[in-house]
Formats: sequence, structure tokens, C-alpha cells
Amino acid sequence: MRIVGVVGAGQMGNGIAHVVALGGHEVVLSDIAKERAEQALGIIRHNLERQVNRELITQDEMDKAIARISITDNLAHMKDADLVIEAASEKENIKVAIFKELCETLKPEALLATNTSSISITRLASSTDRPEKFIGMHFMNPVPIMKLVEVIRGIATSEETYKIAREFVSDLGKDVAIAEDFPAFIVNRILLPMINEAIYTLYEGVGSVEAIDKAMRLGANHPMGPLQLADFIGLDTCLSIMQVLYEGLADTKYRPCPLLVKYVEAGWIGRKVGRGFYDYSTEEPTPTR
Ligand SMILES: NC(=O)c1ccc[n+]([C@@H]2O[C@H](COP(=O)([O-])OP(=O)(O)OC[C@H]3O[C@@H](n4cnc5c(N)ncnc54)[C@H](O)[C@@H]3O)[C@@H](O)[C@H]2O)c1
Repeated sequence: MRIVGVVGAGQMGNGIAHVVALGGHEVVLSDIAKERAEQALGIIRHNLERQVNRELITQDEMDKAIARISITDNLAHMKDADLVIEAASEKENIKVAIFKELCETLKPEALLATNTSSISITRLASSTDRPEKFIGMHFMNPVPIMKLVEVIRGIATSEETYKIAREFVSDLGKDVAIAEDFPAFIVNRILLPMINEAIYTLYEGVGSVEAIDKAMRLGANHPMGPLQLADFIGLDTCLSIMQVLYEGLADTKYRPCPLLVKYVEAGWIGRKVGRGFYDYSTEEPTPTR
């Protein structure tokens, strides 16, 4: 895995590029919007600096990691990659289009991984010319800090691909949890219905944003309230995951809360745009309800 491509330079893509470059691999980071990739490089630099200041890595390790990352808006620049990790928006049509384009460019032996939070690995794999070389590699947010990576095999994923993926993830210093290819796998199958329920709790007026988050922080000992966490994940991503659960498991208990739908329709999709259940334009985030 000398050269690793990362497609999508949003909050997950920049985190993945960060840990992969620190792990000693060359990284080609791409986004449909070149300025997102440029922005991502700035964020990676800032986050590496924080690690240097905390003496978690040395200045030399930081400099080498930064030097290993190149950015592009052209998937043809992935042609020499040994592995490409897709971390674009959580929309199946976007991901399928990326894989189709990538397959025209990649060398035949290159592996493909997706960071999807919920979409069927088997279905995504079948849109490529190499389902046996395709795997789910679900990093957690923020990637440089969170220990876990869920590894998910599609029905066609070969034993060899699975072994290589596990080794790659372990070499990055992450712990692996193996999940079967069911909608939203393990973490989000459990986490997202809780977040959706928290939004219903707000929608029905059981509590305010502040009360709900405080209740779960102090009452259930969660490090962050569910609405704050939803903003952190991105409400667009939360909604997409609930839709995959709702459609994939055909159970009304996964119905996305109408308030979540409304916030996404309004473009209030969380921290990445400055407004979600909290307004981030003030020094301290202020609840919006
Ligand atoms: N946010 C989380 O907490 C989290 C955690 C684990 C996994 N994920 C998954 O990671 C993926 C990315 O999520 P994110 O939170 O980084 O989203 P994001 O919105 O921060 O970033 C998505 C990026 O994809 C880019 N993009 C869209 N279409 C593209 C295309 N055709 N080609 C290249 N780039 C394209 C966008 O410009 C954007 O920069 C999703 O599949 C999501 O489900 C998210």
C-alpha cells in the first residue's frame, strides 16, 4: 500500500488522509471541489501541529506526513494508487459514479474501500469491475483521535482483500471491529436511532436542545449530548443513514424525524456550515431551539 488515494476531502477525508500519511503512505487526496481539497490540507496541517504541541508526534514526523500528501480534483491522478478509500458524501449515486470513474483509471490489482456509514458494501462493490477487491473501511470521526475502524466485507470480498485491509488498518494504529454487511453496520445501527430519538424528543417538546444534551451527558454519562453529536456528524449524513436504515430494514422504528428532514432542507446541517441544533457563529455554541 505505497500510494493511497482518498476521494472526498470533507471532515472524514481529511482525517483519513492525515492518519494514512502519518502512517508512512503517499496520499493523493481528491475532491470534486479543488478548494475543499486545499482547505483540507490546511486543516490537516493545523491538526498535525496540535499533535506536535501535545508531543504526540515530532515536528519531523509532521513535516514528512505533509510532504506525502498531494491534492487534486481529478480522479485520473489516482492511477498509481494501490488502494483508494472513498469518503465522499453519503449518497449512493455519488459513490457509484466515483467508483465507475475510478475503475477506468485504476490498475487492475488496486483495492477499493468505502468509508460509507450505512450503504450496502455488496451493492457498492457490484458497481465496480472488482467486487472481490472491494471492502468497507468505516473510520470514526475525528479520525486522528478515534481508535475504531469497522471493517465490513461484501458478499464477494475475497479473503485476501479482507486480510490486507485488516493489516492496513492495524498498521495505522487503529483497532478493528468486524461487522457484517447490514444497513449501517454496528456503530450507526445503534447510535443513529438514539440520535433520531433525541430529535423526536426535541420535536415533541419533551425538552429543549440544552436540556436533552445535558440529560444525556450527566444522566447517561455520554461525553457529548446527542444533538451536539448530530451536529458534529453532519445532519445530512445523519438523515442519509436513517433513510438507509428505514428502507433497508423496512421497519417504521427507523423513520427519520421530520424535524431532522426540515433542518437538512433548510441547509442547517451542523457544525460544518456553522448552524444545526446549535449556532456556531458565537463564541460559545448557542442552541437554536
Ligand atoms: N461525519 C461523520 O461523523 C462520519 C463518520 C464516519 C463515516 N462517515 C462517512 O464518510 C463519508 C464522508 O462524510 P463527511 O462527514 O466527511 O462529509 P462532508 O460533507 O464533510 O464531506 C464530503 C466531501 O465529499 C465531496 N464530494 C462530493 N461529491 C464528490 C465527488 N463526486 N467526488 C469527490 N468528492 C466529492 C464534497 O465536496 C465534500 O468535500 C460519508 O460516506 C459519511 O457517511 C461520516
